[in-house]
Amino acid sequence: MSYLPDLEQIAREAGALLMSHFDRHIKIEYKGEVDLVTVADRASEKLIVDRLKAKWPQHGIVGEEGTRSDTGAEYRWFVDPLDGTTNFAHGYPVFCVSIALARQDDELEVGVLYDPTRNEIFAAERGQGATLNAKPMHVSRTARLAESILGTGFPSHKRHKNPNIYFYHQITLRSHGVRRAGSAALDLANVAAGRYDGFWEFNLNPWDTAAGVLIVQEAGGKVTRFDGAPFRLDSREVLATNGLIHDEVLSEFREIFAGRDLEALPSPVEYVKDRT
Ligand code: IPD
Ligand code: CA
Ligand code: CA
Repeated sequence: MSYLPDLEQIAREAGALLMSHFDRHIKIEYKGEVDLVTVADRASEKLIVDRLKAKWPQHGIVGEEGTRSDTGAEYRWFVDPLDGTTNFAHGYPVFCVSIALARQDDELEVGVLYDPTRNEIFAAERGQGATLNAKPMHVSRTARLAESILGTGFPSHKRHKNPNIYFYHQITLRSHGVRRAGSAALDLANVAAGRYDGFWEFNLNPWDTAAGVLIVQEAGGKVTRFDGAPFRLDSREVLATNGLIHDEVLSEFREIFAGRDLEALPSPVEYVKDRT
C-alpha cells in the first residue's frame, strides 16, 4: 500500500489553506527575535495533524508548531506546516508544506513537499524514485562546482553565531552563484528537480529536512553532513547535491572549516577608499 495518494491530498489541502491566508496583511507573532509565526502556520499544522491522526492513528507526530504526539512510536511523521514563514509573512511567494514519515527516526519512508504558489508537488517513497507533479524527476548532471548553481539559507535563531557568510562567499566565488530563497524544504526540492546542483545549510530541524532529503536521494542525489558523514534526521547540518559535485563541495568545506581565506571577505572600508 502506498502512502502517497492520501499524503498528497493532505499536502494539497494544507497548501490551499495557506493560500487562503496569503497576501492578506497577516498578523506576525514572534517566537524569537526574528523567528516568525502566523495564524496560517498553526492552522496548517492543525489540518495536517488531524488528517494524519485520522488516517494513521498508530503513528507518532512531531510538528514544528508544537505537536508532539506519541513521540516514542516506531513510525513518526515530521511536519513543517509552512516552510518559509518569513517569505509568507512578507508576501514573497516562496514557501511550501513539508510532510515525511520516518521509521525509528532514520529510515525515511515517504516524503511530500507541496508548493501551492506554483502548484508543484514533489514526492518520494523509499526505493520508488521521486516525482514532480507525478512525473519522474532526476537531479542535474552538472559535473563541476565551477558550472553549478547552489542554494543556502541563514537561520533566524542565534543568527549572530552562524558562520555561513564565509561559505556563502567562498562558494559564490567558485560557482555560477548561490541563491538564498528562504525555504530550506523547497531548496532541497529544487536540488531533486535539477534546478539547483547543490544546497547546504547549518542548524536545520528534522521537519525542515525530512521530506526533502528523501526526495533528493530518490531523485539520484547525495545527502551528507558537512564532513561527508551520513545524514541523520538529528544532524542539523545538511549538504545535498546531485552527487557529481559532492566531493568537490566537501573539499571546499574542509578548507573553509580549516580557516582558508577567513579574512578574505571584501572590506567596505577599502571599497569607500577606492571610490573616493
Ligand atoms: C526556515 C526556512 C529557511 C531556513 C530556516 C528555517 P520556517 O523554516 O526553511 O529557509 O533558512 O533555517 O527555519 O521557520 O520558515 O519553517
Ligand atoms: Ca522550516
Ligand atoms: Ca515552519
